[in-house]
Amino acid sequence: MTTTGVEETIIEAATSARDCALAQFSKFCVGAALEAEDGTIYTGCNIESAAYELTMCAERVTIWKALSEGARKFKRIAVVADTERLTPPCGACRQIIWEFCGDIPVVLANLRGDTETLQMAFLLPRPFEADFLDETSEEGQDR
Ligand code: THU
Repeated sequence: MTTTGVEETIIEAATSARDCALAQFSKFCVGAALEAEDGTIYTGCNIESAAYELTMCAERVTIWKALSEGARKFKRIAVVADTERLTPPCGACRQIIWEFCGDIPVVLANLRGDTETLQMAFLLPRPFEADFLDETSEEGQDR
């Protein structure tokens, strides 16, 4: 699929970030890059823990980095892995991308130059989000 200039830039950033992946258990290295409204590109990679379930995906590392540096609005995110089928964000990352970035394009790419861009609303239809928390009529924890 053909890519635009902005997509090429963010794919390059995610590809470089992938080189830092700490994927010592799975050997599955992932890089991500997130472009903020002002054009700043934040990057991250997956980081695996010996306590496997503490592993953090590249997408969430990237989003936490961007948010913790004060960025709040985002234009697109890229995810790069070395797979023939383009690797999409896992379910947990889809939830976090939706909550903090909204309906942005997700640019998927591999190391052979294949790319595809999918909207978050396609990847996470009918999402759970913060305003559901205001709708419950439950009184709370007196059980
Ligand atoms: N992983 C990511 O970083 N992002 C994805 O989109 C899919 C999976 C990581 C988590 C773990 O370190 C490794 O890939 C294997 O699941």
